[in-house]
Amino acid sequence: MAARLLLVVQNIRKEFVSLSYRKYSSEGGNVRRGLVLGVYFDGDKKGDIKLTPAAENFDRRTSGKFGCLLQKSGPPLKRGRSRILYDLDGCYGTVAVVGLGKHIECPKVDEHENIDQGKENIRVAASVGCKNLKDLEVDIIELEDLGQPEASAEGGVLGLWNYTGFKNKAKQKKIPQLCPHGELDRNLWNKGVVKADAQNFARKLMETPGNHMTPSAFAKVAKEELSKNSVAVEVRDKAWAESMKMGSFLSVSKGSEEPPVFLEIKYCGRSDGSNPIALVGKGVTFDSGGISLKSASKMDEMRGDMGGAACVVSTINALALLKVPVNVMGFIPLCENLPSGSANKPGDVVIAMNGKSIKVDNTDAEGRLILADALCYAQNFNPQFILDIATLTGAMRVALGTAATGVFTNSSVLWQRLESAGATTGDRVWRFPLWKQYTKEMSETTGADLNNLGKGTGGGSCTAAAFLKEFVSSGDWMHLDIAGVMSSTGESPPYISKGMSGRPTRTLIEFLCQLSCQ
Ligand code: BES
Ligand code: MN
Ligand code: ZN
Repeated sequence: MAARLLLVVQNIRKEFVSLSYRKYSSEGGNVRRGLVLGVYFDGDKKGDIKLTPAAENFDRRTSGKFGCLLQKSGPPLKRGRSRILYDLDGCYGTVAVVGLGKHIECPKVDEHENIDQGKENIRVAASVGCKNLKDLEVDIIELEDLGQPEASAEGGVLGLWNYTGFKNKAKQKKIPQLCPHGELDRNLWNKGVVKADAQNFARKLMETPGNHMTPSAFAKVAKEELSKNSVAVEVRDKAWAESMKMGSFLSVSKGSEEPPVFLEIKYCGRSDGSNPIALVGKGVTFDSGGISLKSASKMDEMRGDMGGAACVVSTINALALLKVPVNVMGFIPLCENLPSGSANKPGDVVIAMNGKSIKVDNTDAEGRLILADALCYAQNFNPQFILDIATLTGAMRVALGTAATGVFTNSSVLWQRLESAGATTGDRVWRFPLWKQYTKEMSETTGADLNNLGKGTGGGSCTAAAFLKEFVSSGDWMHLDIAGVMSSTGESPPYISKGMSGRPTRTLIEFLCQLSCQ
């Protein structure tokens, strides 16, 4: 299995992998090569530093000059700090030394922080070192495993990414090529690269302006990308949604000139015909609020309101790249939420696919309206369980900030699995309740089965989840509210730059990988 996985990933990233096989000398004189090496710092005395094995190798290669200069050049490097050393070696003109913090021998999840701190330290260090070398405009970065190749690759690939979009090519910062340094487990390194690439892909989809990332454009990009890896994508149109009686989804889309699209994605990683896991992603390519219009300030960030959809597409793409033995289907309702003469009005009543009537008290609570029909539809495929993911409520941002994704689920087994995946990736999750009180608040309206706005005070994320619950008739279900983690304003770890985050793509991939190897 390990060998097969390695082969697959190597084929995919041929160019990337072959780079590291090239002889340094054959690169020619004008290629600038940088190296990232790690150092632990266990205590507070100068003598408490410890080089990683790769850094020790480099120290030998430079006849001890490296270690000596590192000591002389300043205080010991603490976790996440870095220092650049020049001209130590003919091959690597620039070396970024990065602090890994305490040397943690065995991987352990910090009970209170819910995180594998050793892995997180590596991601942080790798990203800081790579970003420093990028600023120095090196052409090729060699990054060592820093103790764990997967985390190191993640930190490097995430840290080097930035959105260039429509910026003049000449003004764009060049992203250096990243390759692994020294002897390391390439299988794990490549897994880290695929996961981080997937998160970067989600970031790109989210960051792309709404006029370029319309429902049809999203469908086109998703199909193009997934088809490369033999994942089937059905692009359903408005007439199809009408035939499915998706009145709730269609009611949101009718406020815009852009036609709605419904994506049905199928990845078969197993041949035993086992039931699929269903992933449902909110794909509102722009959320103005509709007639319940949002305020103008920062409304542009609502181009990222398809973050759930982006996460589903990039997760399935990564599963296919890694050939994970799991069957997964993706269901993505795509539309815009705009105000127009044909838009939903507060007080309107719409009928979802399962026949339930919904009073639209607030047209800005549109995510739950489009997910309602997608959840109903997903159940036609007898999934093992359904996981929906959505930038659903501003209240989630208030509750958790950018620290974690909020999770609502009727399965404690799935919850534990997801929590553990989050601790591994550093992109954490936190559980919220699905109590009857919230359901009551969503069904007390007269004249319809449900209202789309909670009738109580506060608890907006919980009432939204309770609303969705009404569209899952049976079986295990998880709802991930990612409104809080959608974007970062600088408080996130250094491997997530400001802007759309692509979270929690890596956690979802890890979760499904771990489930598949049970
Ligand atoms: N897409 C928003 C939620 C959101 C807010 C995501 C901030 C990311 C950042 C969602 O459609 C929305 O507008 N929710 C409303 C619900 C309310 C009207 C019940 C909200 O949170 O204000
Ligand atoms: Mn909204
Ligand atoms: Zn929204």
